[in-house]
Amino acid sequence: MNKRRMAVLTSGGDAPGMNAAIRAATMLGLSEGWKVFGVSQGYRGLIEGKLSPLSPGDVGPILRRGGTILGSARCPEFFERSARDQARKHLKDAGIEALLVIGGNGSLAGASALCDPEEAGLDGVRVVGVPASIDNDIGFTGISIGVDTAMNTIVEACDKISDTADAHDRTFIIEVMGRESGYLAMTSAIAAGADAVLFPEADKTEEEIVDTIVRTVRRVRQRIGRTRRVMVIKAEGVAMSVGRLKDAVDERLREEPGADPNKSETRITVLGHVVRGGRPTAFDRLVASRLAHVAMRALVNGQSRKMAAWVPPVAPPSEVSVKSPFDPYCWLVELGAVLVETERLSVRTSPLVEWRTRVFDQLENVLSL
Ligand code: F6P
Repeated sequence: MNKRRMAVLTSGGDAPGMNAAIRAATMLGLSEGWKVFGVSQGYRGLIEGKLSPLSPGDVGPILRRGGTILGSARCPEFFERSARDQARKHLKDAGIEALLVIGGNGSLAGASALCDPEEAGLDGVRVVGVPASIDNDIGFTGISIGVDTAMNTIVEACDKISDTADAHDRTFIIEVMGRESGYLAMTSAIAAGADAVLFPEADKTEEEIVDTIVRTVRRVRQRIGRTRRVMVIKAEGVAMSVGRLKDAVDERLREEPGADPNKSETRITVLGHVVRGGRPTAFDRLVASRLAHVAMRALVNGQSRKMAAWVPPVAPPSEVSVKSPFDPYCWLVELGAVLVETERLSVRTSPLVEWRTRVFDQLENVLSL
């Protein structure tokens, strides 16, 4: 008897833990008696029909590796109907009835369009998503795959920078990834013991941003005790470039009464793509495996147009979500509702953004005490 067939793909920016999700999905699919295929290079590979079978031997050792063994790609063409038709044709020709999409907001939008019944028909491919993005900017999930590893990488880098910053009483501005979301900057600022955090949701003018840093330096320099280092974490989504920020802050610090010329020059570190790589933490492996498990159960049980979510911080409406019967920390939320909440996070109308902004506003003086 022919086995039923499903496929898995990773798309968009890779995130540490994607491999754990691929592994869990493959193992579960195979254990349920399905044939499981991996798609190379995300939606680009799907448009080109790049599918190959996955076996336990292929996925056994991948759990501890960063990146994604399937490869990933940004694929703006997928927003064209013709590209999606091509992808659906390849899936149909290969006899694949269900697809697991592991990726961020663009990937989940692609997943939703791929299984839109108006385009795909009622018997089209079924699709369920798993949130994976270091930015943690996806709606209705407490965390996405990759966030914990990225945060640990940032904190490790900040600890190292702190050693040298402490030794010289220097001010450092450290820029971290996160696209338009300040989540990674905020959480790693707390975990690394930063004195200030700059995040796009605060919507500060350039002048206010410079003021924040100068105020922080003043407060830290008044501390009693040995340490006078100042660590500022800046989210990449804050539009002012680190170069311009450094120049403006240095100029102001030189004008401070009694300024020490040796300590009035800030140092800059842009962590860039370092934040996205590396061995996934145990927590990322666990979250990835559990989300993939819940998503795969949904696919095996005939569901579609859903995303597996990890304890949502803003409860999704009950008509578009259910708690997973397979995992008390996981929910299944309608993809359409996820995309709407993701947009609200992006345009800052979600209550979550309002909460984060207020809390960090209140924390400004606490961090630099
Ligand atoms: O979305 C993940 C992310 O790493 C963002 O934090 C960052 O802005 C972007 O991707 C970088 O994209 P690319 O690797 O395509 O330059």
